[in-house]
Amino acid sequence: MELNNKNLLLIICGGISAYKNLDLIRNLKNLGMNIKVILSKSAKEFVTPLSIASLSKNKVYDNEFSLNNEIEMDHIALSRWADLVMVCPATANIISEISQGSAKDLITTVILASNKKVFLVPAMNSKMWENKINQQNVKKLKLAGYYFLGPDNGELACGELGIGKMSKIDEVVLMLKNYFTINNIDLKAIVTAGPTREYIDPVRYITNESSGKQGFEIAKKLRQVGFKTKLILGPSNIDAELEVDTKRVTTCDEMFNATQNSLPCDVLVMCAAVADFKFKKYQKKIKRKAQEMKIDIDENIDLLKYFSNLNQNRPKLVIGFAAETEDLLKNGKAKLLDKRCDWIIANDVSNKNLGFNSDSNKATIIYKNMEIENLPEQSKSSIASNIVYRILRQFDLNGKRDIN
Ligand code: CTP
Repeated sequence: MELNNKNLLLIICGGISAYKNLDLIRNLKNLGMNIKVILSKSAKEFVTPLSIASLSKNKVYDNEFSLNNEIEMDHIALSRWADLVMVCPATANIISEISQGSAKDLITTVILASNKKVFLVPAMNSKMWENKINQQNVKKLKLAGYYFLGPDNGELACGELGIGKMSKIDEVVLMLKNYFTINNIDLKAIVTAGPTREYIDPVRYITNESSGKQGFEIAKKLRQVGFKTKLILGPSNIDAELEVDTKRVTTCDEMFNATQNSLPCDVLVMCAAVADFKFKKYQKKIKRKAQEMKIDIDENIDLLKYFSNLNQNRPKLVIGFAAETEDLLKNGKAKLLDKRCDWIIANDVSNKNLGFNSDSNKATIIYKNMEIENLPEQSKSSIASNIVYRILRQFDLNGKRDIN
């Protein structure tokens, strides 16, 4: 997972989190990256060109076109020099301009002329992020192939709580490491996510609290680092199709068929909270005054167990999840052995602020050799980046020893 000698064109826009780039640049320089920075006019209110130049050890570019800049390196050459373009923080204003295809200054022109991936790391007030026009701009950019990291939920610089916080620097670094590990390698991933629904009659069903966020984040990040990724998603209101090839399903049986039909793959991540039981469904709505009501229960197929035990087409790496309210490690280890998957990612769902339906998570990875690794509380996006990092390590893409 080498960043050594990779070229990053970092575009810093004017937001309070611009200062975090000082740390980011120092970290990335230590990892051997070459960094060129363009500072927007308002970014200079938050960080000085001198501090950025000293840390990046490169000339800092002004957003205004200038003869000197263009003679030294024109805007096309600057975008060709980069292996990756990253806008950090990406403000509502720059998101709006890029989504319009604007080419009014150096930043927008370099982005428009880029033949490399462009990652946007947004940071703004939550009302600005959620604003319908901003959301339409984000949607347009996602459809056009721009990648987003974050924003996270939490306390914002303005003191309000909500979504809009810039992803942590550690996660940005991890995202870059992951991105440069695998690109253009032909690997395929399937991820199941969300709850399933099992109907009792045409209008009533049993389901669970899963939102699908954790699985979606994993699928999105696998795709961003270059896996051909299929997300098989139970009922969830995530707009997943924008960022990953998604198949929507409702029941466990449908999830089974969709997974089966998507094989073969190299890595299978079974994050879905699948209902363990299904019902012999009443064809008509059960009436309150029904004389006799009998619900026949059948066990659902255990997808994780089934796909972990395939003789043919077994994915090289099968990862299961274990949502537990007690005895996390004991139950997680028992599930690993019972299902014969390669890793179990166990998380405690007894705390209402973590796991199911929340934006953060805390997890323990149990490997096949029973080694364990704790991922402390962090956003689901960050947990996903950490899991993808370990998947890449497992695939040993840089000739490093794998961990199992
Ligand atoms: N799982 C599955 N198919 C099922 C049930 C679960 O593929 N019918 C998968 C989940 O996606 C998860 C793992 O199995 O990766 C563990 O799910 P969990 O509900 O925690 O475990 P169960 O085996 O159902 O055990 P229990 O509900 O008794 O804790």
